[in-house]
Amino acid sequence: MNRPPGRSPRTAVEAAVEAARWAPSVHNTQPWTFAVTGEEISLRADADRRLRVADDEGREMLVSCGAALFTMRVAMRQAGYRPVVRILPDPDRPALLAVVTAGEPAEPDERTSVLVAEIERRRTHRAGFTGLPVPDRLVQALVRSAAAEGARLTPVRAPEAVAVLAALTQAAQGVQARNRRFSLEVIRWARPPGSSRTDGVPAGGYPLQAARTEPHFAQRDYAWRHRWGSTGADPGATDPGVVAVLTTGGDTREDWLAAGQALQRVLLHACAYGVSAAFHTQVLEMRHLREFVREELCSGEYPQMIMRLGVTFDAKDAVRRPLDDLLD
Ligand SMILES: Cc1cc2nc3c(=O)[nH]c(=O)nc-3n(C[C@H](O)[C@H](O)[C@H](O)COP(=O)(O)O)c2cc1C
Repeated sequence: MNRPPGRSPRTAVEAAVEAARWAPSVHNTQPWTFAVTGEEISLRADADRRLRVADDEGREMLVSCGAALFTMRVAMRQAGYRPVVRILPDPDRPALLAVVTAGEPAEPDERTSVLVAEIERRRTHRAGFTGLPVPDRLVQALVRSAAAEGARLTPVRAPEAVAVLAALTQAAQGVQARNRRFSLEVIRWARPPGSSRTDGVPAGGYPLQAARTEPHFAQRDYAWRHRWGSTGADPGATDPGVVAVLTTGGDTREDWLAAGQALQRVLLHACAYGVSAAFHTQVLEMRHLREFVREELCSGEYPQMIMRLGVTFDAKDAVRRPLDDLLD
């Protein structure tokens, strides 16, 4: 195919980097940088933004970067070029996570356009859902979306298993809240109301008072002793939604990047159907609890994300760093 009219590989590269800013990341750390050389983007992990306490191995950092990578791929495809991706291309440069090149020109397909339309609209939810149903057909389609990226999304249907995950989340949250190092790290990434910072979790990103779901899934305490949070939340939204676990067969850096790509594909796909996600990763930050979830609930696969999927009408704030801060 010839070059699409008005679109150069360079504009596709720019569109990809601009879109990647909007990927989800743990505590909105945005732990990535991009270097653009001609028609090529190098995605690097920014280790200064890794959570030293909660994420000593860098797993959540790489899941976050994987989400940015999927966003780049799909935005480049929308801009008229097939992305060519090399994952962890240089063993001597472990921070270099991927190199994405604008390959063959190609008209975007409908699925790509649908996903791209959600990149800036998608938001993390941090409360109960309305109880409007998430259609089973959509859940099955999300399972296929994750599989296409080399990960497995498993809806947790048995009430006993949902209760176990809720209880583990509560326990992990309790331990972390009582641990000074964990707490200080969460506070470090909490963005106070009116702050001009462009990273961290904004006070408009969670409710002042979240209604309890049944079973209750404990939220991170970003407001820590302050009366922060949005007041527009629906107090009647007490439905936990569909609980699901994203897993991978291995637990290498490649697996973490695959999990991140699968995560963002699932989130954008769900968002296109009016379904949002809440995350509860406290359990996965505690080695023994993660191992328990792996053995007891994930058939030996490695849990990379615990989430709830549902319908919400709450508006949420989002902040991102400007492009200039992200370019190497
Ligand atoms: C690996 C990973 C772990 C996360 N863990 C949590 C979590 O435990 N609790 C939570 O409320 N949000 C969690 N999030 C969501 C981020 O806080 C969110 O993506 C970030 O603040 C940006 O906001 P947005 O998703 O609304 O754009 C996680 C995101 C990622 C990628």
